[in-house]
Amino acid sequence: MTACDAEKIIWNEVFSVGCEGVDKEHQYLIEIYNDLADYCANDNNTNEGYLNILSKLYNYSVTHFKHEEDYMERMAYPDIKKHKKIHKLFLKKITQLNLELLSGTTPNIKQIIDFLQNWLIKHFLETDLDYEIYRKKYKPEIEY
Ligand SMILES: [Fe+2]
Repeated sequence: MTACDAEKIIWNEVFSVGCEGVDKEHQYLIEIYNDLADYCANDNNTNEGYLNILSKLYNYSVTHFKHEEDYMERMAYPDIKKHKKIHKLFLKKITQLNLELLSGTTPNIKQIIDFLQNWLIKHFLETDLDYEIYRKKYKPEIEY
């Protein structure tokens, strides 16, 4: 496979939802994304190599989403259902990508990178920020 150009995500205070525990986990998601961006730049990258990184992303996302969903439940966040659906769709998408890689299909890495970059940034800036705003207003005693 040939190399592709992928922009890395540099953590920025703008991404902060204002909760250290959440931010730390988001930083780790960015790290995995950046591993993918690095890997992309290599010549001779393989489906197996991509699969390694995307499996790591999948597994860590499961962990992170579990933490978030538990947090949202404890604060009785009214939009939890919608948020859970977003998590589910993300995991479904990654599963699909992994199955394609496993079947030997040449991945459209540019498309994967664009999807992840947009999804992660939107997730931090909009989806997650929303429950944190709610918590601060109504349930400030709840901890992540
Ligand atoms: Fe999150």
